[in-house]
Amino acid sequence: MEALLSKTFQNLSKNSIANKMAKKYGLRFGAKRFVAGSNLEQAVDCVRELNSNGMLAMLNYLGEFTNSKTSAAETTEDLLRTLDAIKDHQLNCYLSIKLTSIGLEIGEDVCSENLQRILDKSEATDTFVRLEMEDYSNCQKTLDIFKEMKTKYRNIGTVVQAYLYRTENDINDLNNYNANLRLVKGAYNESSEVAYPNKADVDKNYKNIITTHLLNGNYAGIATHDDDAIRHTIRVAERNEIPKNNFEFQMLHGIRPELQKQLRDEGYKVRVYLPFGNEWFGYFMRRLAERPENLTFVVKNTFKK
Ligand code: FDA
Repeated sequence: MEALLSKTFQNLSKNSIANKMAKKYGLRFGAKRFVAGSNLEQAVDCVRELNSNGMLAMLNYLGEFTNSKTSAAETTEDLLRTLDAIKDHQLNCYLSIKLTSIGLEIGEDVCSENLQRILDKSEATDTFVRLEMEDYSNCQKTLDIFKEMKTKYRNIGTVVQAYLYRTENDINDLNNYNANLRLVKGAYNESSEVAYPNKADVDKNYKNIITTHLLNGNYAGIATHDDDAIRHTIRVAERNEIPKNNFEFQMLHGIRPELQKQLRDEGYKVRVYLPFGNEWFGYFMRRLAERPENLTFVVKNTFKK
């Protein structure tokens, strides 16, 4: 039953009619639990609320699928507007972006040009920008672009994925750049040629890379909802006298909110990932596909505005 529901949500996430209807009618069906809003204003309100509750935020713009230079340029404009809004509203928030949304798959030159505009603005507004890590085919390109930009811009970081065999080496290489890294387990379906097929190995490697990166002394965003990995981080930090401001916990909006508050109350920095934008429906369906138990929220909220 769970597998069937998961498959249904995966299919719905790509259904063009459902996506069009979702755009027309705005956030519905309890999507607010996972998505900050269908536009920038709603996202700003959501960040404000988090900030007033002692939480940090990061905004991720869910734009149109980018298959042309024009759509990559449009997404770039939306991201520039988001940086302006972060500055204008004095939000404790940064920007998290997918390089494919600004043209990585069209050409590295297109992507770099758009990224430089974003990073110029990030310097001007003193706002951090994180390059997310996507599927394996874009991994090396993302790291190359990150390294090139890191020599010119301060406010930039990227992500590494524990499921990839290469990641321990990447972390040590990125240490030469004092990289601010978000550490994740990894979200894409990768082949066993490049990634650990067993979850237990991914979980083990996740703890290993957390230790390596923290001991290297670079800033870490520990992006997980996994109690075991979180307690491991705290143990490593305490044993090695790593100050609480050298790392932060990051979680998705709406997932384990009680744990987010608990960590905040223990004095840790907690940053919440806030996706927003027109393309909210696909993101929402993917969260349900990951965990069909979240369906309870949909049922409760179907008749609410
Ligand atoms: P795991 O999947 O083992 O889950 C641990 C526990 O968390 C579960 O037992 C459950 O209790 C809870 N949980 C997890 N997912 C849940 C859900 N949907 N609903 C309710 N409870 C849930 N990936 C990537 O490849 N590139 C990237 O750039 C990013 N960026 C990113 C940012 C942030 C802030 C987060 C939190 C995650 C990412 N990811 C990502 C996704 C990441 O790779 C991974 O797929 C998910 O975080 C799920 O893995 P966990 O570490 O939470 O552990």
